[in-house]
Amino acid sequence: MTLASQILDRILVLEMVRVTEAAALSAARLIGRGDEKAADAAAVEAMRAALNELYMDGTVVIGEGERDEAPMLYIGEKVGAAIGKGPKIDIALDPLEGTTITAKAGPNALAVLAVAEEGNLLNAPDVYMEKIAVGPGYRPGVVGLDRTVADNVRAVAAEKGVAAEELIVCVLDRPRHEKIISELRAAGCGVMLIPDGDVAGAIATSDPDTNIDIYMGTGGAPEGVLAAAAMSCVGGQFQSRLLFRNDDERRRAKKWGVDNLDKIYNLEDLVKGDCIFAATGVTHGSLLGGVKRHRDGRITTESVVMRASSGTVRWVKSEHRRPG
Ligand code: FBP
Repeated sequence: MTLASQILDRILVLEMVRVTEAAALSAARLIGRGDEKAADAAAVEAMRAALNELYMDGTVVIGEGERDEAPMLYIGEKVGAAIGKGPKIDIALDPLEGTTITAKAGPNALAVLAVAEEGNLLNAPDVYMEKIAVGPGYRPGVVGLDRTVADNVRAVAAEKGVAAEELIVCVLDRPRHEKIISELRAAGCGVMLIPDGDVAGAIATSDPDTNIDIYMGTGGAPEGVLAAAAMSCVGGQFQSRLLFRNDDERRRAKKWGVDNLDKIYNLEDLVKGDCIFAATGVTHGSLLGGVKRHRDGRITTESVVMRASSGTVRWVKSEHRRPG
């Protein structure tokens, strides 16, 4: 076992929750204030400070953007308290997944993070990504982007042993999804339209309490890598394909080493080997409760931390007596 995997093994698992909690606590002060940028900046600053306390030589591989457009937690930024000497860890992060949700006090905003040994997370460009996800328990390849919406629905319904009418499919509420939504409804299933936050949407397929069977549609590629990290921990399935709107996006993808622009990425193309995924709820959602302020001064948070190699999923409820 390498030093990096030993560190991943023991120390980082719970440390990761401290990092997402710090981001969530800071962002939560700006819930419902109508200011996406301020909420995001608060989460970014808190997450960066928390990451810089950890004994690691960390590199942000999925972050707030490229160096020239993001002041902090940009792609390539080094973080950690042991740069040059600690274990080399790659980090995919979204300090505030759901900036608009937070600004409007809507559901499902999260602070999210995934870490893996150096080289094990796809360096995805900030473009759109077509995604399909199902939770654990299905035969490998039960859904695929190379199949029609109706075929995917039929396959999941058959394996689950229910009629298509009993399935719920989660889709981002966007005009670009009109066709998928009408095909899903024609296939008979229910469609849960979410305003934002497709990391939570994809992960929801792995939690039977959410009633969501399939996640489908196009969202951000960075969010896709984060969702894939969580799905790799719980044994779910996730397939994706990058989508480019113009030549500039294609050029940027090449810069990040994407040679085949039409490639279908399976889970193991996005996340390799062991990884840890952590998330803390900012606003209340399908997966986690949001940050709550109590009359006695306590602030409570709900988080989840998962690890791929063991499949362990820990739900962490914390009480904070001073704002993080
Ligand atoms: P932000 O946190 O950056 O606001 O992203 C929210 C989100 O809904 C993601 O969950 C999703 O992947 C992406 O935006 C979808 O992009 P768009 O809003 O352009 O459809």
